[in-house]
Amino acid sequence: MSITILGIESSCDDTSAAVIQNTTLLSNVIASQAVHVKYGGVIPELASRAHQQNIIPVVDTALKEAGITPDKLDAIAFTRGPGLLGSLLVGTSFAKGLSIANNIPMVEVNHLQGHILSHFIDLPDREMPHPSFPFLCLLVSGGHTQIVKVSSPLDMEIIGSTIDDAAGEAFDKCAKVMGLPYPGGPVIDRLAKEGNAEAFTFAKPHVKGEFDFSFSGLKTSFLYTLRDHVKEDPDFVEKHKADLCASLQKTIIDILLTQLIKATKKTNIKDVAIAGGVSANSGLREAVAEAGRRRGWRTFIPELKFTTDNAAMIAISGYYRYQQGMLSSYDIAPVARLEDIL
Ligand code: KG4
Ligand code: ZN
Repeated sequence: MSITILGIESSCDDTSAAVIQNTTLLSNVIASQAVHVKYGGVIPELASRAHQQNIIPVVDTALKEAGITPDKLDAIAFTRGPGLLGSLLVGTSFAKGLSIANNIPMVEVNHLQGHILSHFIDLPDREMPHPSFPFLCLLVSGGHTQIVKVSSPLDMEIIGSTIDDAAGEAFDKCAKVMGLPYPGGPVIDRLAKEGNAEAFTFAKPHVKGEFDFSFSGLKTSFLYTLRDHVKEDPDFVEKHKADLCASLQKTIIDILLTQLIKATKKTNIKDVAIAGGVSANSGLREAVAEAGRRRGWRTFIPELKFTTDNAAMIAISGYYRYQQGMLSSYDIAPVARLEDIL
């Protein structure tokens, strides 16, 4: 029997809706909010307002593109957290309204679990390669950096995580001090291609946790390098932008890869996936693929459209939860910090 799920994602600055039938994606509509660019970061209040404006047309388009009317849905999956509370509230409230109006059950989804389960989405014209269980997933986004041991779609264990900034934050904050637009990750990725990654050396962390990460020291070291050089040459950043980006990106990738390799050795797991916005980074994608070739891993690198926030990943997570009868009640509230992966 086929199960049809509508997914709704509104945790940060993208309003997205998607329809999935079993594991096959029928539509995935994303409205990105341009309003934040001029502020150099996401303004929570503006994000909630933009979600409110976008959510009805985005859901409507996703249903139409999929050729599905609301009465044909088996469940509505929505992001409960983690994320910006006001933004989450828009998606959660909308899901409740649609659920009550059409008498369809709701399924809450953890945004982080969604990023990981994006590896199980199939496209109408082709099945995607899926990792086997257990596999390790390096989850790298704007708010999180974790190594997760995934034993089944609903059984995940965080075995390493950042003790301060996330990898995406390191990209975004360093981009900001260079005067680059938000979000900084994609811009650094592009500029890094023209730079020399050996031009600058930045601090690498020493963390106690075996598979943990830290990026705040790198950020400080980057800031000090800039400050020292700019004192002598005010045009330093402009002249060396590509080299700074290439060296910064290489350092971030090295930090991520060191812990990921350690985790594969310790767990003896050879199916290795990456997920989250930073997994769009071309340098990281190449580095993980190369590490896999050398170490005999099967690597799973998501399609670019499934790396950053999208509702397809919420819909697929909802599908697995719905199958297990994990429905949510109408008194459910969004949660800004949902540390537990489930
Ligand atoms: O997963 P995501 O869309 O949102 C969160 O859940 O946080 O991740 C957003 C993060 C931002 O920090 C952004 O700079 C980063 O992903 N990002 C990238 C690239 N594309 C997006 N970082 C490095 N290289 C990229 N190509
Ligand atoms: Zn995300």
